Amino acid sequence: MKILILNGPNLNLLGVREKSIYGGQSFEEYFETLHAKYPNIEFSYFQSNAEGAIIDKLHEVGFSYDGIVLNAGAYTHTSVAIADAIAAINTPVVEVHISNVHQRESFRHHSFLSKNCKGVILGFGLDSYRLGIESLL
Ligand code: DQA
Repeated sequence: MKILILNGPNLNLLGVREKSIYGGQSFEEYFETLHAKYPNIEFSYFQSNAEGAIIDKLHEVGFSYDGIVLNAGAYTHTSVAIADAIAAINTPVVEVHISNVHQRESFRHHSFLSKNCKGVILGFGLDSYRLGIESLL
């Protein structure tokens, strides 16, 4: 089984950025724990701060992978283009967020992506990614 974990803007700074919201662990460190927990899953990981690069990645894997766990960061709340890319591919996408966006500023309450995703998991810290993987299994 092949699963891509796809992180959007500023998520390369996990462990450094706004620790009270996003925690103190880097994604690379957390990613190691996923490998250990799911030895039979073939994981890929991609992070980009660029909207087009995220769309290119969705196109690249979206007709062959078994699932995509996507945290599009702030593009969640702005990007019709990423929403369209999710609708265009065959691979199911689970939208995840580290923070509970509904407890935060109102501009974070709307997602352009959710409608085209299999489901949404948010507010469980980095464990949101594991729960996203579980939902694909
Ligand atoms: C986020 C929530 C977004 O509103 C924010 O822009 C992020 C991270 C989360 O994982 O909680 O960059 O997607």
